[in-house]
Amino acid sequence: MGTATKPKTKMEVQIMSKLLITFMVFLSIVLTYNYAGAVAGQCSNCHTMHDSQGGADQGDSGAQSQLLLASCAGCHTTSGAGQTTTYGAPAVLHSAGTAGGAQGNGATNAGGDFYWVTQGGGDAKGHNVADISGVSADATIGRTPPGWEPNATSGFTFGQVAGGAANWGANQLTCAGTYGCHGNHTTANSLQAITGAHHNNANTGSGITATAASAANTVANSYRFLGGIKGLEDADWNWNETAASHNEYYGKNDTSTERDNDTTDTYQFKETSSYFCAECHGFFHSRIDADATFGSPWVRHPTDIVLPNSGEYDDYNSDNGDDTAGSYSLQVPVARPVVPTNAEGSSSTVSPGDSTTRTGAIVMCLSCHRAHGSPYADLLRWDYTTITVGAGTTTGCFVCHTDKN
Ligand code: HEC
Ligand code: HEC
Ligand code: HEC
Ligand code: HEC
Ligand code: HEC
Repeated sequence: MGTATKPKTKMEVQIMSKLLITFMVFLSIVLTYNYAGAVAGQCSNCHTMHDSQGGADQGDSGAQSQLLLASCAGCHTTSGAGQTTTYGAPAVLHSAGTAGGAQGNGATNAGGDFYWVTQGGGDAKGHNVADISGVSADATIGRTPPGWEPNATSGFTFGQVAGGAANWGANQLTCAGTYGCHGNHTTANSLQAITGAHHNNANTGSGITATAASAANTVANSYRFLGGIKGLEDADWNWNETAASHNEYYGKNDTSTERDNDTTDTYQFKETSSYFCAECHGFFHSRIDADATFGSPWVRHPTDIVLPNSGEYDDYNSDNGDDTAGSYSLQVPVARPVVPTNAEGSSSTVSPGDSTTRTGAIVMCLSCHRAHGSPYADLLRWDYTTITVGAGTTTGCFVCHTDKN
């Protein structure tokens, strides 16, 4: 018997074309996802299905969350001096030291390095992150962050650090999670806290030199997986930084009169890089002003304020007295009041007094500190012991306080 093909009804044609369109949309999402997805390569480079091969334990010893071969620290540590690890991850710990013992260009990624805090007597030179082998609680400070304000993250979209406890008790700082910096604070497990971020990070599209993390409503699309924080991500994490090519940090000119040194503390802008630090060091951000009129005199060094276009500050990074700022300083960076687009990228221009455009200048915690660690005490970006009145030098504090040298 012949099998005559029945002509399709109008309804069937419509269903088929709808299915086709759905498939095309699905395909385009998959393709975009693949091109924009951050991690690349075979699954087995990073995952192990049973933590066993030929009967032997795989990767870091013991089975890891999310079927991974290694922990955060394991994947992000290298024994060489290069930028990335064998997993292709940006190195945050150069376990044998950084190139020339230096921080910055060609020696560390933007966050600095945990190397110094792993060394004897190095407690003050980095964050004492529990996930890093051999790093125990800071012998001087203990586990609770200096300036800890339990309510700084109260009601925060990405959870409350330490659950808002008055002190951290036996809990030491971790990479991510409730007592950590990256991801959600709603879970203690570091990998659980950033789940989905690595596969959804839009960072490695070919030809992209920087990616704007301007939505910051998921961990994946927040600046460097710091939940809720905005910024422009340099594609090589500042390894080849120049005055024109670097991360752009987000900052705001927060002139709230509630930033005075009393018991009411407010955080108006919860997307800035300085608010990120304030999640744990809240009082250093919220109790800075001596009185109820915003501005000098200060009681703590101000951050999230615009660099004035007057006095000694208009000569930022160019101490020649012409009242014109020099270019963006890699040693003493400023934050920007808007996140540049991918196409705009980063800029070498710094405009004191500007609190509205992408070349504006906002003082931030990272103007003076590194996030992970540095060769100097207090994770500083320069050796504070050499910043001396009348020394005639132009680095460190003098990049902004140009008349004090
Ligand atoms: C370069 C390393 C790397 C490669 C290659 C990799 N992954 Fe992952 N994957 C990770 C990391 C790191 C995590 C956990 C952290 C996170 O989710 O951000 C993860 C998490 C996951 C998760 C749970 C979270 C989520 O995004 O759904 C799944 C499922 C997953 N990977 C599947 C795969 C599959 C399937 C492949 C191969 C096609 C693969 N991975 C390749 C690094 C990698
Ligand atoms: C299996 C290895 C692996 C593990 C485990 C892993 N990472 Fe990564 N990570 C990578 C790789 C590879 C990249 C680079 C991906 C890219 O941006 O191309 C990366 C990138 C990152 C970045 C940069 C993101 C950006 O926007 O550029 C951050 C931050 C990060 N990881 C944090 C973590 C934290 C925190 C953990 C633990 C909770 C972790 N990683 C665990 C492999 C890993
Ligand atoms: C999730 C909490 C958390 C966040 C976010 C955080 N810190 Fe810390 N910080 C700590 C803890 C805990 C300590 C005390 C223990 C230690 O030294 O690691 C500390 C210590 C410090 C110290 C003193 C180091 C020493 O040992 O003397 C400095 C400086 C510092 N942090 C700067 C920063 C800056 C800058 C940022 C933002 C880029 C930041 N912190 C973000 C938790 C945090
Ligand atoms: C103008 C430069 C500068 C800025 C901006 C700055 N710091 Fe500091 N910070 C320092 C210096 C220098 C020290 C060393 C101690 C000192 O001289 O007071 C320090 C020390 C610290 C300490 C250690 C305190 C202790 O008890 O040991 C922490 C924590 C810290 N800073 C966090 C922050 C946070 C968070 C911000 C932003 C809200 C910030 N800093 C902004 C320069 C700065
Ligand atoms: C990124 C620029 C920048 C850097 C770097 C910087 N400062 Fe400041 N500093 C400022 C600004 C802006 C003010 C507030 C000025 C104002 O209110 O007029 C300020 C205020 C101060 C004040 C308080 C002045 C007052 O009126 O109450 C002191 C003291 C001070 N800084 C010292 C330092 C020291 C010491 C360093 C180095 C550890 C340093 N600063 C690094 C920009 C900077």
